[in-house]
Amino acid sequence: MGVFVSSDGTDAAGHEQVVFCQDRHTGLKAIIGIYSTALGPALGGTRFYPYENEEAALADVLNLSRGMAYKNALAGLDLGGGKAVIWGDPNQIKTEGLLRAYGRFVESLRGRYYTACDVGTYVPDMDVIARETSYVTGRSLEYGGAGDSSILTAWGVFQGMRAAAEHTWGTPTLAGRRVGIAGLGKVGKYLAGHLIEDGASVVATDVNEAAIEWARTTYPQIDLVADTQTLITSDIDVYAPCALGGALNDDTVPALRAKIVTGGANNQLAHSGIEKLLEERGILYTPDYVVNAGGVIQVADEIEGFNFERAKLRATRIFATTGEILRLAENEGVPPAVAADRLAERRMAEVGRLRSIFLS
Ligand SMILES: NC(=O)c1ccc[n+]([C@@H]2O[C@H](COP(=O)([O-])OP(=O)(O)OC[C@H]3O[C@@H](n4cnc5c(N)ncnc54)[C@H](O)[C@@H]3O)[C@@H](O)[C@H]2O)c1
Repeated sequence: MGVFVSSDGTDAAGHEQVVFCQDRHTGLKAIIGIYSTALGPALGGTRFYPYENEEAALADVLNLSRGMAYKNALAGLDLGGGKAVIWGDPNQIKTEGLLRAYGRFVESLRGRYYTACDVGTYVPDMDVIARETSYVTGRSLEYGGAGDSSILTAWGVFQGMRAAAEHTWGTPTLAGRRVGIAGLGKVGKYLAGHLIEDGASVVATDVNEAAIEWARTTYPQIDLVADTQTLITSDIDVYAPCALGGALNDDTVPALRAKIVTGGANNQLAHSGIEKLLEERGILYTPDYVVNAGGVIQVADEIEGFNFERAKLRATRIFATTGEILRLAENEGVPPAVAADRLAERRMAEVGRLRSIFLS
């Protein structure tokens, strides 16, 4: 794995800047990856994770920062894509000193990169990092933060699902449809609420007994099934993966009975080629990074001074963007995942090009 040329010759070669940060005293070892600033400062969270080695940390940050550029572009944000990783076990090494040292490296980029929460980092951590840099989002409400980002993530997923319903059945509603949710966590719970309000019937599963208990007491009308396998082979119109990545793989796609897949989980396609398998089976897949962008829209709004209604309006546009992608996919004869990438690349190129107009 190199920074200028990766082993597969793709991802790494496209990055603008990759910054290695080290503070021996606190044990900080971080990598900040900036894939693109064509649309504005790069925004993406900080993952704090005990990678097996430096190569794994670098591969992850390169991959994630590229993904953020595409996600932010299609979310309509004036933000580029970046991401950071801190290498180490957060339970062992996360201290005020380490986080503040990291904050100083973020500050040194003078706004080319804005950070936020990701796996292993939480809202209180952002408040600590913010003592050293202003380029932080995902802060606590007391500091003007956006709060729980799963609220607008779920709202955006619901909008994407409405667009898929319109594309498939002619009306932008899930009323009368049966939707299967795998994972009743932060996103899945809010999504269930929107669907029930819209008149859908919901069937769901979760491995966590507390989540099941929540469903039993809050929405007794939800049908609860034992596991994801039972869920996807049951008579559902829409499948909403809201747990972990890799939900769509060589085993699940052939077994799926749903006509549409729209969910909050990241990295739903287990490997490239799965999008074609979905298409061959006549299943409409709305790309995960398009429909789950409500969370980044919510935290990005902090940069302007957080306003929930404005952020919600922006997340509602996921309906229009998803519809545009599905139409583009149909017109160009490609899976929606390919159409989404093309649309993101087009926006980065077209808007990024405007910088060539000289302003005195
Ligand atoms: N929270 C956000 O704002 C946000 C934004 C974008 C993407 N996402 C993605 O959405 C997904 C859900 O995020 P979340 O914040 O709701 O996480 P969460 O941890 O609150 O919820 C995940 C739920 O999935 C359940 N689960 C785990 N394995 C399962 C399995 N095998 N079968 C059924 N259920 C299982 C867990 O018990 C949990 O209740 C993740 O992939 C996350 O990366 C979240």
